[in-house]
Amino acid sequence: MKHQGKVAFITGGAIGFGYAFAEALAEEGASIVIAEINMEAANAAVATLVAAGHRAIAVDCDVADDVAVDNAVAKSIAEFGGIDILINNAGLHLTKYNQPFSVLSRSDVRALFDVNLMGVVNCSVACLESMRSRGGGNIISISSMAGNMSSSPYGVSKLAVRGLTIAFAREFADAGIRVNAISPGLIATESAIADLPEAQVEMIVNQMQAIHRLGAVPDIVNMMLFLISEEASFITGETFKVSGGAALSV
Ligand SMILES: NC(=O)c1ccc[n+]([C@@H]2O[C@H](COP(=O)([O-])OP(=O)(O)OC[C@H]3O[C@@H](n4cnc5c(N)ncnc54)[C@H](O)[C@@H]3O)[C@@H](O)[C@H]2O)c1
Repeated sequence: MKHQGKVAFITGGAIGFGYAFAEALAEEGASIVIAEINMEAANAAVATLVAAGHRAIAVDCDVADDVAVDNAVAKSIAEFGGIDILINNAGLHLTKYNQPFSVLSRSDVRALFDVNLMGVVNCSVACLESMRSRGGGNIISISSMAGNMSSSPYGVSKLAVRGLTIAFAREFADAGIRVNAISPGLIATESAIADLPEAQVEMIVNQMQAIHRLGAVPDIVNMMLFLISEEASFITGETFKVSGGAALSV
């Protein structure tokens, strides 16, 4: 139980990567906060975790709304005593946001940046003092390989996650907090697979990647577990690609 007594605040933790992070951390003894806009899915996720003997709560939290984030963090601290691990996972990522800036409406661009960028700012700043008071912590944000290409509003938002990771690693270091990010390639979450035509999935796996299998959620969970572990205690401010070698072509 590597994370016994720790508290993890996971945004977008009801499904996809977020739920897989929650389950993996709960199995290592952490208490889990699922911070979500989809409370039905969040409550179902918490019920599953609690039925398996874990400690978990769901908090209603739109990461784009700084007041909602502050309230969710305060509620988590009241329930579990503090926060040690923040996973900035919630993000808008459908193909809609991969259209050119001149095609996507300004309000859609703003909504995307509010969630993918300001969400990371809001949650990271809101967790800072609790982590500092507990002697430190870990922040992991989910960027994307699309950030490397940076050729769409989504890509730009994920490149910004890499920038925020560098900035917060420096700003929060004195509080004992390490800040890192993961850049997944295509990973088979339900939403990602439902969103992409089969031919595009095949092209990514067979032509862009060097390892010709579809990325799986545990590929990302394993990187998260490494980055928050003692084995990674000299690593901060980095964004790690996990993409089956797709990174080698961009
Ligand atoms: N799946 C992939 O292939 C892939 C690749 C690269 C990066 N990513 C990134 O990983 C993250 C998770 O991806 P996923 O496929 O699991 O996504 P998903 O769409 O399956 O799940 C996202 C969760 O976030 C929640 N959410 C959305 N907006 C929110 C908000 N404003 N506040 C709080 N919660 C909110 C949703 O309700 C949902 O439960 C995203 O940031 C995405 O950009 C995914």
